[in-house]
Amino acid sequence: MKKIIFLAIILIGTLFILEQILGKDPNKKSLEFMPDMVYSVAYRSESPNPHFENGQTQQNPVVGTIAHGYKPYHYENSVEESIRAGEELFSPFNEQNPPDLKRGKKMFQVYCQVCHGAGGEGNGIVTKRGYPPPPSLLLENAKNMKNGQIYHIITKGYKNMPSYSSQVERQDRWQIVSYIRTLQEVKND
Ligand code: HEC
Repeated sequence: MKKIIFLAIILIGTLFILEQILGKDPNKKSLEFMPDMVYSVAYRSESPNPHFENGQTQQNPVVGTIAHGYKPYHYENSVEESIRAGEELFSPFNEQNPPDLKRGKKMFQVYCQVCHGAGGEGNGIVTKRGYPPPPSLLLENAKNMKNGQIYHIITKGYKNMPSYSSQVERQDRWQIVSYIRTLQEVKND
């Protein structure tokens, strides 16, 4: 009997000590026993920081940094730059890797046809409502443009034509170029 009472006292005592250690208030931290790396020595990104000259933790990216997944485009919006792009940018499509002309046609219908017309003649619906009509894509001027120049025109726009880079992704721009080549009956090289 004595033993049981003794054990009960030890048990109650242990529970009492545990309660003191763990605490009653769930919002309050209880006693920390080996906190390991709970408290990081690192500065929070928005906090001040005495180790940098500008006193901030968060630093500006180094000049020339390119965000992951972002592909820079090194040509400005001008006729000269479109010609330079024509010399330097090449379609990923060729005989070994043929374009998806169905996709090119669809993209042309969605993004170009309103102005350039279904056949590329420059008679799209908006030209009947006062928008300056573009020259026909079937004329020598557009026929003689290099693939890269047409790609550039879609990317940056051209004189009265706005840029379509935010609507048409890069691969689809080349698909459109290939499709225009079929309208023009120009070899897509
Ligand atoms: C909002 C109307 C509009 C849309 C949409 C449009 N364009 Fe244009 N585009 C023009 C105009 C206007 C010009 C003539 C620009 C100038 O000379 O002032 C032009 C010029 C061009 C030229 C140069 C033609 C030449 O001989 O000078 C090409 C190539 C071209 N566009 C391709 C496209 C492609 C490809 C698309 C679809 C991704 C497209 N355009 C969408 C209005 C448009």
